[in-house]
Amino acid sequence: MKRDLLSLQDITNDEMQKLLDLGSRFKANKGKLSSELAGKAVALVFQKPSNRTRVSFEIAIWQLGGKCLYLAPQEIDLGKRESVEDVAKTLSRYLDCIVARTFSHEDVVALAKHSSAVIINGLSDLFHPCQGLADVLTIKEKFGTAKATVAYIGDGNNVCHSLLLGCARIGYDVAIATPKEYEPHADVVKIAEKIAKQTGTKILLTRKPQDAVKGAHVIYSDVWVSMGQEAETAKRKKDFKDFQVNKSLVQHAHKDYIFMHCLPAHRGLEVTAEIIDGPHSVVFDQAENRLHMQKAALSFLLGDK
Ligand code: CP
Ligand code: NVA
Repeated sequence: MKRDLLSLQDITNDEMQKLLDLGSRFKANKGKLSSELAGKAVALVFQKPSNRTRVSFEIAIWQLGGKCLYLAPQEIDLGKRESVEDVAKTLSRYLDCIVARTFSHEDVVALAKHSSAVIINGLSDLFHPCQGLADVLTIKEKFGTAKATVAYIGDGNNVCHSLLLGCARIGYDVAIATPKEYEPHADVVKIAEKIAKQTGTKILLTRKPQDAVKGAHVIYSDVWVSMGQEAETAKRKKDFKDFQVNKSLVQHAHKDYIFMHCLPAHRGLEVTAEIIDGPHSVVFDQAENRLHMQKAALSFLLGDK
């Protein structure tokens, strides 16, 4: 039976630990070439632009000995030029794995349903599991297994959902501050709460950034306007104006806090330059960890067992 990675729901707490160990081992190997994906072909089917996800996957696949194809939005034109089902069935005849970046999460689910190739979600409107894996590795590198609190400030979006599930699996407490109507999806919170019960994780949802950040070891932010939401820019800028990570907000955090952001970032909106470019920021360690954790995920899902 193939295993897909559509969300961090698709792995267990033990598998999450295993992936983190694997990612750390790949990191320690410093890009040494290996053969976990020898003879395997992976395509990146992207409906949206990408820097980190595309480049880190391409390099990961090359370093693991596989073949990677990048299929830009205009090439496959998922669901428009051809139905998602036909794309899935066709590509399965050529490929071992598809990394899909879509607008709608339902398209990733449909690809998984109709494809015999392994599907990895490279970001949908609902989840960004590869980001979540890299984020948890970054937190673990800084705080180990100590009980850290992760404060997420901003939109309860794809990145927030995967961070929440990833932290719950490892046992990092999570405090999420969003404006009204931008809360994380209730179903995702429910799943996270169930996992949190097993791991002794605390989850707090609030409308007050200061309450979330109080004593936090990690402050995390993402864009206010995600890809595909550009028409809502003016409204979102207004709705999120009190959710900027800046000097006055971080005063409430633990003195050794780290600042995280999945990138791309908008200095002066969700975070000030002083914070993202300051001494507490680990955003480029986090970006680097995308490579190591994707190697972990690819070898876990596609390597010989
Ligand atoms: N964080 C992230 O996924 O970046 P890209 O959109 O550049 O891939
Ligand atoms: N929430 C952002 C993340 C980008 C990596 C988006 O979906 O555009």
